[in-house]
Amino acid sequence: MSEALWGRVDDYIVDRLVKEDDALANALAANAAAGLPAMDVSAAQGKYLNLMVRITGARRILELGTLGGYSTIWMARALPDDGQLVTLEFDPRHAEIARRNIDNAGLGDKVTIHVGAAVDTLPIVATETLVPFDLIFIDADKPSNPLYLDWAIKLSRRGTVIILDNVIRDGKVLDPQNTDPRIIGTRAAYDLIGSHPRLSATALQTVGSKGWDGFAIMIVE
Ligand code: SAH
Ligand code: DHB
Ligand code: MG
Repeated sequence: MSEALWGRVDDYIVDRLVKEDDALANALAANAAAGLPAMDVSAAQGKYLNLMVRITGARRILELGTLGGYSTIWMARALPDDGQLVTLEFDPRHAEIARRNIDNAGLGDKVTIHVGAAVDTLPIVATETLVPFDLIFIDADKPSNPLYLDWAIKLSRRGTVIILDNVIRDGKVLDPQNTDPRIIGTRAAYDLIGSHPRLSATALQTVGSKGWDGFAIMIVE
């Protein structure tokens, strides 16, 4: 089975079920025009995140890794009227494009962007009133995944759902000799999650327009 076919099946899923609208398509166009790397979740994955927000009834969401706000928009639009999303982004240029995309999607009053390395902004978020979060999406620099998971648990309550992106990476996650810091960080995340007394987890492999990758999903107990 070819990657091209995975992409065409994703198109079919999006056409029949997901129905990406103008605000989302415009965000991707603005990202491309600004030269942002295309590391956003796919439309089908974005809708999955949107459904997770609704299934869990999340009112307070934390995201690590905003990029141009594509995943942010998918999640924030699933929030109830009094819901809030805080998203952390290292690159001020990414944050600026994201701010515009989020505002253009009509979600400006629901989303706060903290600019800076997440390791520096997480302690600030920890002092804010949105803690504990109901749902946390981790999608920033992969070497820091173990650190981010520790923070996520700290900012959680019993029942908080944590979703971690890019946990398959074309199967590279299997290779203990791989020297890519992103793979090392993700493998360390598996070890942390699997041995953590407060986490119950699985990972789902996905194929589609972004190739072969997947999400880990866990609940804090
Ligand atoms: N969640 C986005 C994609 C995020 S891509 C979406 O699906 O639409 C990863 C983002 O993490 C990039 O924008 C990158 O600049 C940011 N990032 C990298 N290192 C970071 C750090 N130390 N702290 C916060 N964000 C970081
Ligand atoms: C990369 C990062 C991501 O978060 C993603 O979803 C896809 C690719 C990357 O760093 O290449
Ligand atoms: Mg990702």
